[in-house]
Amino acid sequence: MVSRGPAGAHPTTHTHTLAQPRAVGQAPCVLGQQPISAARLHGKTDSCANSRNDPGRECKGEEELGSDSAPEARLGLFRAKIKLSVFLYRKQEEASQLSPSQQLLVPKGSQEQHLGRNLKDSCSKKMFAAYFDCPGGPENLYMKEVMKPDPGEGEVLVKVSASALNRADLLQRRGKYPPPKGASDILGLEAAGSVAGLGPGCSGRWKIGDAVMALLSGGGQAQFVTVPEGLLMPIPKDMTFIQAAAIPEAWLTAFQLLHFVGKVQEGERVLIHAGASGVGIAAIQLVRLAKAIPIVTAGTQEKLEATANAGAAAGFNYKNEDFSEKVLEFTQGSGVDIILDCVGASYWEKNLNCLSTDGRWIIYGLLSGGCFPKEPASTLACYGPEIRRQYKERLVRAFTEEVLPHFSRGAYPHLQPLVDSIYPLHAIAEAHRAMEENKNIGKIVIEIPVCFKKGPLQ
Ligand SMILES: NC(=O)c1ccc[n+]([C@@H]2O[C@H](COP(=O)([O-])OP(=O)(O)OC[C@H]3O[C@@H](n4cnc5c(N)ncnc54)[C@H](OP(=O)(O)O)[C@@H]3O)[C@@H](O)[C@H]2O)c1
Repeated sequence: MVSRGPAGAHPTTHTHTLAQPRAVGQAPCVLGQQPISAARLHGKTDSCANSRNDPGRECKGEEELGSDSAPEARLGLFRAKIKLSVFLYRKQEEASQLSPSQQLLVPKGSQEQHLGRNLKDSCSKKMFAAYFDCPGGPENLYMKEVMKPDPGEGEVLVKVSASALNRADLLQRRGKYPPPKGASDILGLEAAGSVAGLGPGCSGRWKIGDAVMALLSGGGQAQFVTVPEGLLMPIPKDMTFIQAAAIPEAWLTAFQLLHFVGKVQEGERVLIHAGASGVGIAAIQLVRLAKAIPIVTAGTQEKLEATANAGAAAGFNYKNEDFSEKVLEFTQGSGVDIILDCVGASYWEKNLNCLSTDGRWIIYGLLSGGCFPKEPASTLACYGPEIRRQYKERLVRAFTEEVLPHFSRGAYPHLQPLVDSIYPLHAIAEAHRAMEENKNIGKIVIEIPVCFKKGPLQ
């Protein structure tokens, strides 16, 4: 498994030791593909190598993708799943604690939860959820006792065992990414757990106790969530809830970008920015699965090593080298066929420099801000709620058929989610801080403990 820290460990803070990282220059192990060149260029050790934080980095933040931006003819913009909003990093977060008067869970004795756990608390009408009343920093997050959702027509009630953190959660917490109309205002865009109830009109595909995971419009960081049955996926055999929670958002996004949008072909070269991010690590493996060649950028040597473990053919540290020149060197001057770009403005010229003729440049995030040198293009894909639902169902179906079998033990090529760290729900503020500081390699998972009780945070 491409994993960091001991499987099943339950730290309240992140773990940062790579489990036997493959040395730079070794062949990738995950999918066993051959790099396009014998020389796998995985960056150099540099002054940033020991730190994932870069206090000097001026992060202007993710912004509304539709409101600005736009390129030349060879640029394709993408906005199928989410709207991006302004996101501002704080240089230093205040040391903060959740208020003792808030109702909190106690994670004592909590362990990674395995499939088949019983569902004894399914009968209560209330549940605990990660919540904030006012937009702001992580200190605004707390556990709130709320009404348990009821599954509506064609919906399934899922008892959540684990969720995972996404950049969109940080935006939502700051009031920059309100949930879509009709969606839960509880945080959490993905969840893994067990089916605990079925709404009217369900097709019979799912039964009580089934182990499932799902991409959500919200509500995943709670004890229960309702999901349209067409958006559920079975958890692959032998996989824990923690591992499963690291799949839906990152892997479905990477799959969508590569296949629905980018139409990746065998032998193509794909440049993946933020290669050690949740989406990046998934994209590397999916590029290998498509028999194409993943090339990455990342901000530290440790992150580049993790991308090499995941199968990247080459990786460049964007902080101390010009990635576009390195990419051109690696591809012998021809450039890349696809760029998966979640960075935006600051990479503009360099992306143009190393994109091949007829290449596809897919912008799906704006981590460096949205101030592009050209005026908006009219190529943004916009979907109404119904179309969005059908689109998502099609995506989930395709992913379930084509990709999920590769997560099972013994499958070849074998895919593996990368869990950076596991935080219990009551420590969610800490998890937010870790992501804001760009500390994670792979996914930050939020475990939902079995027992909740009122009282001060321990
Ligand atoms: N459109 C969609 O449907 C969709 C869905 C999911 C995610 N996303 C977007 O995809 C992106 C990645 O999400 P994720 O959850 O996988 O992220 P993540 O795991 O939190 O990793 C993001 C990484 O990006 C790098 N980064 C941050 N600011 C940067 C900057 N200014 N310039 C260059 N690199 C920067 C950092 O790594 P380094 O240390 O290497 O710099 C950071 O750790 C986000 O922009 C997110 O909003 C979009």
